[in-house]
Amino acid sequence: MRVMSVVGARPQFIKLAPVDRALRASGHEHIIVHTGQHYSPELSSALFADLAIPEADVNLNVGSGGHAEQTAGMLVGLEIVFGENPVDWILAYGDTNSTLAAALAAVKLGRPIAHLEAGLRSGNRRMPEEHNRVVTDHVADLLLAPTETGMRHLAEEGLADRSILVGDVMADVCLRVRAATDRQPPQMPAAWSDDDPPVLATLHRAENTDDPARLAMLIERLAAMPFPVMLVAHPRLVSKADAAGIELEHGALRVGASLTYSQMVYATARARGVVTDSGGLQKEAFLLRTPCITARTETEWPETLSDDWNIIDPDLTADPAAQFARERPERRDHPFGEGDAAERTVRALADGL
Ligand code: UD1
Repeated sequence: MRVMSVVGARPQFIKLAPVDRALRASGHEHIIVHTGQHYSPELSSALFADLAIPEADVNLNVGSGGHAEQTAGMLVGLEIVFGENPVDWILAYGDTNSTLAAALAAVKLGRPIAHLEAGLRSGNRRMPEEHNRVVTDHVADLLLAPTETGMRHLAEEGLADRSILVGDVMADVCLRVRAATDRQPPQMPAAWSDDDPPVLATLHRAENTDDPARLAMLIERLAAMPFPVMLVAHPRLVSKADAAGIELEHGALRVGASLTYSQMVYATARARGVVTDSGGLQKEAFLLRTPCITARTETEWPETLSDDWNIIDPDLTADPAAQFARERPERRDHPFGEGDAAERTVRALADGL
């Protein structure tokens, strides 16, 4: 089987790692196409190196821009790549503009397209990621869902006959990297302390960064927390804060550049707590047993809300000390799969031919 993965943004490189391993381990041919949506080394090449992903076979170098400009650039580039390289499956990941472009370019050419991480819904039609998810699921030929909740959404939208539950490939990579970093801890930045672990915070979603008053409010709430907060700053956050004249480093806040995936998993497992608007980090916190506060109005991962491991707190008004107390019942179920989602993905692709 010949599979072409289309990726472009940081969370997609993380999902790509276990899928690439599983495809190669079972003797399939794997072509990697990078749209170039993320190009800064800390968001792109550092992830490839850290997760031992082979270099992309093709890079479209599309870069940043408005939704139309960015997505259109990808569509034009992908149509050429798909036209020149017949494969058994084109595989799109997650919910970014790169996902949408891969799905649209493939379906217009009549090429088989599978969507990994299908069926997630926030119900928030103001999120660019929600448009990308809905459109991608409705045009794709094979829908690979990470959770039962995702399967239910797909059935509700009339897509059950194209859907299969494979588990979450992010759980595969998270648990593998946790074991590796427990054995050999990565070098950590100065803002980190193993003896007195800070809160780990990230903010990057348009809903939180693009309105200066809202961004200033969230930064003030983080700065006022009663313990050190290590803010791992996405380039989007840095550029929006600069443009709005918002100072990030003050009060409890210690600002650092992006971490490698290994550093992120190490920090998440040991942090006092996590504050984030990232979908991936909410789930990593849950898998690594660290309480989380989600700075959004909803989550695509409702499984993380059990026993308040994660709470939805869009304006950061909850008491962080109470949320970060760790006494919670042990869980025995695995809502994100058993760490074999990549292998199940490869089997589903092979069976679906
Ligand atoms: C994108 C995804 C989002 C995902 C996130 C992970 C969409 C609509 N959004 O958001 O779902 O959670 O990736 O990071 O696809 N920038 C850089 N260097 C880069 C890339 C971006 O500095 O390599 C800065 C630029 O100022 C750019 C801004 O970040 O304008 C936004 O980048 P963009 O790719 O549009 O979206 P993200 O916010 O990264």
